[in-house]
Formats: sequence, structure tokens, C-alpha cells
Amino acid sequence: MATQETLTPSGDGTDKAAKPADKAPLPVIKRVGLEGVVALDSVLSFIDGQVGELIYHGYDIKDLAENTTFEEVAYLLWKGSLPNRAQLDELNAQLQAERELPPMVLDVLRSVPEDAHPMAALRTAVSALALFDSEADDPSPEANYRKALRLTARTPTIIAAFDRLRKGKEALAPLKRNSTAHDFLYMLNGEEPGTAAERTFDVCLVLHAEHGLNASTFAGRVIGATLSDMYSAVTGAIGALKGPLHGGANVEVMKTLLELDRSGKSPEQFILDKLAAKERVMGFGHRVYKTLDPRAVILREMVQDLSEERGQRQWYDYGVEMMNTMEREKGIYPNVDFFSASVYHMLGIDMDLFTTIFTLSRMTGWTAHLIEQWSANRLIRPRSEYTGPRNLKVVPINQR
Ligand code: CMC
Repeated sequence: MATQETLTPSGDGTDKAAKPADKAPLPVIKRVGLEGVVALDSVLSFIDGQVGELIYHGYDIKDLAENTTFEEVAYLLWKGSLPNRAQLDELNAQLQAERELPPMVLDVLRSVPEDAHPMAALRTAVSALALFDSEADDPSPEANYRKALRLTARTPTIIAAFDRLRKGKEALAPLKRNSTAHDFLYMLNGEEPGTAAERTFDVCLVLHAEHGLNASTFAGRVIGATLSDMYSAVTGAIGALKGPLHGGANVEVMKTLLELDRSGKSPEQFILDKLAAKERVMGFGHRVYKTLDPRAVILREMVQDLSEERGQRQWYDYGVEMMNTMEREKGIYPNVDFFSASVYHMLGIDMDLFTTIFTLSRMTGWTAHLIEQWSANRLIRPRSEYTGPRNLKVVPINQR
């Protein structure tokens, strides 16, 4: 593990001088990768990485996955309680009304090269949304809530439009009468999804909505903490989520599963070969979970159901054998990206769109974190340890 820690002067690992008003010199703590560092308070989610527990604002993820929709979870994250029927109806109506893209943003998507990385296209379009939002730089809590809603409503439209345009099809206007899951699958595929596909996708959205101070959320809060705007912050967060060590892992998982399928090897041998070659197996391991990610437990059941229903049993069998081999060989467990990849694949979604779906859902968590950040803002500004040279003297340019 790349973690190093040096402490001065208290030396006990606690940041005793975290209070802004303190004038005494701050103890310096060094932890590469900020592992185990608590940077702020949040009411949004809690992860117990030892037992595999995830809570959104007091509710266990399994309970939420079984008994709520993505929109109810969005409301919970933004407002701090689950909505009643009238509140949910109002939120749904607001999301539906905001789903359509400004025409200029559609034009931006039309000019994106068809081989562009979908996360790059999404990052660009989300950034462009700011240019057509008169409230983009309004920092009031009311405007920020409306922007959170708008961003959540429009992200699915961007993803679907990008995908259709790159395939030479026309982008479809949102139906504006259904759930996020329903409208997204309709705009992507050009036909309304069945109830089962809609519900499966909706559960995926619930599972990906929020996850503490992960890399993209942290990136977003760092930007927000400078008192920059919500669009800038979520654009930065999208950039962080794109990375294969974070949200980009779900695409890498599918590539791995397809490679296994072509290889003719058993999943066990396939994993053993990868480990012998010192390769990382994508979709495994986590900075916080040291046991099975509770979202992976739910997604594994979904893979089982879908693979039986669709006669594609191999995705479940591969997944379980890979999981057992990784646990036996390395003591490492699947994370959310491992089983979600097969779910999206069986729902007929193109592999390279998987991380954009993660974004679609996480937009709620990011925006909730930004609202929380601005309710008690403090600039986030850690330090680096200087390891470069000293005492060099500038040699005039024509003598270098
Ligand atoms: N395959 C093989 N070995 C692994 C893996 C893996 N996926 N993950 C961790 N390890 C090993 C690693 O080689 C190291 O071993 P050693 O101590 O012998 O050198 C040990 O486990 C600790 O790894 P680390 O990289 O120091 O741990 P980390 O906390 O920095 O890494 C991680 C967390 C998620 C970056 C890492 O587990 C990883 O690269 N996983 C694959 C990518 C992935 O699935 N990312 C999605 C993360 S969860 C969802 C999300 O945030 O998007």
C-alpha cells in the first residue's frame, strides 16, 4: 500500500489543530492518498467498510433498493427526508419539465466526434448547460436546489442524445411523463421499456446515488469550496468519475468479462493468470470496504435473475467464480462496478456508456454534497511535502 504517514509535532495521528481560529502552528499530517482522513462532516451517507454497510441519510441501502425509487432517493439526499406522495409527485413533475435540453447544447452534442469517449462528451455537455442557465452563478440555496434538479433531469437526456447522434440517429425528445429510468431507456432505445427493465434500471440508480467522500464527490466539493458554481463542480466530478480506478471500472469489468468469454479458460484459471501477471482485476477492491460491498450483494442477485430470465447464465456463473477465486487468492471482494456491468450488458446498453449511467445517478449525490458544502463552507486546501531541490541559482537563458 502506498500510504505513508509522518506527523509533526503531535505525532499521534490526530489533527489536533483543525479549528480555524487556532493561531498555534498546525501539526502536519501526511497520508498519501488521504486514506483514512476525515475531511468534513456529512449527513448524506455512512459506510461501514468492515461489515459491509451503506446507509443513505439513515436508511439502509437494501431497504432503499427494495422499497424506494431513484426519485425518492434524490429527494432524500436533497431534502433530508423521504417524500410523501404529494412531494414525490411534485418532484417528478419538476424533473419531467426540466428534462429537455437547451437547443444549443444539442448542437454541441451534434458536433462531438462520433468516436469521442462518452464521459468526455457528457463532461462537455454538462459544462455547456451552464452557459444556458441564467441561474448558473446564483449561489442562493433556492437556485442551487433548482440547478441540482435540472442537472439530474438533463443528464439522462444528454447521454441518450449523444448515443443516438453518434449512431447517425436523431436525438429523441423526452416523453416528460415518466420516471427517470423509463424516460432514459426510451430516449436511448427509441422504445418504451417494459416494467421489469425499468425497475431493474431504477434499482441500479438507487444503488449508485451516493457514496460518501469518494474521489469524484471530493473533487466536486473541492471545487465547490472555492465558492465556484455547481456546474463547474459537477463537471470536475465527472472528470474524476471517468477514471478506471473509480467509475470507469464498470467499463473495464465488461471488457474483462468479454475477454474471459472469448478465452475459453475457466473463470478461476483466468483470474489466476491475471494475478500471476500482476494485473489488477477491475471491479474488485475498495478503499473503504474490506468485505463485500452491500451494493454488489444486491447487484449479484439482479445478475442471477436477469441471466436466468434472458438465457445468459454465463454472466452470473463467471461473476460468482471470479468472486470466489479473488476472495480465496487475495482476500479482495467485488465492488459496485463488478456486477453492475453484467446488469447493464443484459439490459442491452452499450459497454462504453456504463460510466455515464453511474454519472446519471451520482449527479444527485454530488449536488447534495455541494448544497451541504455551501451550508457551512470552508476552503479545502491540503498541503504537499516538498521533495524537490533547493538553493538552485538561475543561469541566464543563453548560458543554459
Ligand atoms: N486486483 C488485484 N489486486 C488488487 C485489486 C484488484 N482489483 N485491488 C487492490 N489490489 C491489491 C493491490 O495490488 C495491493 O496489493 P499489495 O499490497 O500486495 O501491493 C492491495 O490490494 C491494496 O491495493 P491498493 O491499490 O493500495 O488499495 P487502494 O485502496 O488504493 O485501492 C482501488 C482501491 C479501488 C483503487 C483498487 O482496489 C483497484 O484498483 N480496484 C480496481 C478498480 C476498481 O474496481 N475500481 C472501482 C472502485 S469502487 C467503485 C467506484 O468508486 O467507482
